[in-house]
Amino acid sequence: MDMTTGTIGEAPLDGTKKPRFTTLVLPLFEGVSKAPNRALAGVPRTSSALVKEAISSDDFSGKSGQSLTIWGSDLRVLLLGMGKSDGLSTKEARDGGANLVAGLAKSHGKNLLVRFTTGWRSAAMAAFAEGMILRDYKFDKYLSKDDDDDDDDTPLSAHFEASDRYTAALSTGCTRASAIAVGVHTARDLGNEPANKLYPMEYAARARAWKKGKGNVKLTVYEWDDLQKHGMGGLINVGMASDHKPCMVIWELNPEAKDGPCPFIVGKGITFDTGGISIKGSSGMDEMKFDMHGSATVFGLMVALHGIGHQGHMMAISCMAENTLAGNAYRPGDVIDTYSGKTVEVLNTDAEGRLVLADGLWKAGEYDPAYIIDLATLTGACVVALGHEATGLWSNDDVLRENLRKAAAEVDELAWPMPLLPAFEKQVKASKIADVKNLGEPYGGSNSAAAFLKQFVPEKGEGDDKKQYPWAHLDIAGTAWGTSTNATVDHGATGVHVRTLVHLIDGE
Ligand code: BES
Ligand code: MN
Ligand code: ZN
Repeated sequence: MDMTTGTIGEAPLDGTKKPRFTTLVLPLFEGVSKAPNRALAGVPRTSSALVKEAISSDDFSGKSGQSLTIWGSDLRVLLLGMGKSDGLSTKEARDGGANLVAGLAKSHGKNLLVRFTTGWRSAAMAAFAEGMILRDYKFDKYLSKDDDDDDDDTPLSAHFEASDRYTAALSTGCTRASAIAVGVHTARDLGNEPANKLYPMEYAARARAWKKGKGNVKLTVYEWDDLQKHGMGGLINVGMASDHKPCMVIWELNPEAKDGPCPFIVGKGITFDTGGISIKGSSGMDEMKFDMHGSATVFGLMVALHGIGHQGHMMAISCMAENTLAGNAYRPGDVIDTYSGKTVEVLNTDAEGRLVLADGLWKAGEYDPAYIIDLATLTGACVVALGHEATGLWSNDDVLRENLRKAAAEVDELAWPMPLLPAFEKQVKASKIADVKNLGEPYGGSNSAAAFLKQFVPEKGEGDDKKQYPWAHLDIAGTAWGTSTNATVDHGATGVHVRTLVHLIDGE
């Protein structure tokens, strides 16, 4: 979405000068009984009279969710009810913007003028704009173009207006939201890509293409041979049955700014999860193309942080593999050697995410990070527990857990604290022939998965001072795709937690 900002009344609406707008959007608050000051500046007389009448009528009261379009021959005016101005939350403002875009009809056209008047504050205006940009997304690259489909490909463009004292803040907010949305949309694009188009080395190729020309981005890819050389048995075993070989992508932003420990993000990147020898049922298996959304979020996060000009040093790892079947696939009963040196008894080849993450988490320790956060579409059990409404959050560190929970809540990507109980660690440590097993007891599967990951969180210090790095695990199995209540997404991949992590890492 193209966007610009300005002061109310500056941009002509009378059709004689550029820019021309097809629709004037007026988001108004509950109780509005007459058109706010300047709301109709420049609107042709006939339309203006109709709009005034509509606002003072009983048909439009500004209640949340209400919308009314007044049709003028040159200009549509869309009245949008925002509910009460007092206590309008950022979420409500963001959802309002998203719902506006979702509800646009062809006749509203592609050039919108959004005018914020009485009752709007800068944070809410920026959130409204953010919602619009986030919702303005389609994954249609594989749809053949229909010649009759005239101008449907024209991107949406919006000009935001507010009174003078707000325009600077609004403009800054919009620029930032736009840059972050590019990251969110990148993550969605990757998540939505089918597995025949996006496989581990293709992800690496896209990362390399993005890196080109960016002096402050460093990228290292461990390809098949490198994985062997380093003994990354988690990635190797999960990925070896596929013709599309696994790889590890190591990202670094602003290496020059290195100034002590930095944030470290690790993403699960299973480009397709058949379950392997412990094969999944057919129903809904197509959804397993989303099983790389942890790594999609990592990619999107790098794009977003780079896009907003983040100055700090940060790193990430994407653990990429396709979990499929062949004569050389790893099997239930196998014992594998992970990068950490710990051995794992594989009891179910469908519990593969934790195996690739084991190598990624351990690798992160080599960089002495400030903290490690992993993101993974890890367990169906997490979807059972939290639906598509919240990400599961486990951590070995109270401060990190709370910071992450807060950052997620503030951008409306809920991450809900879950128990990292010693009993679940006991379950995964109960293998008789290896250090750990990749399966816990039948119930509480997302907790035993988290407890498994904890076995691979590296330690800092020596002897008695030895202590695990602060680490948090986000199970995004339910939130990475398929949400019906998230106003900012239509369908498919959500790009979840790009915004959370930007907020956490960039601190705004
Ligand atoms: N990728 C799946 C988890 C998943 C399921 C994500 C549904 C999104 C929607 C993961 O690799 C998996 O298969 N987990 C197993 C673990 C089990 C074998 C312990 C599961 O959840 O059934
Ligand atoms: Mn699986
Ligand atoms: Zn999986």
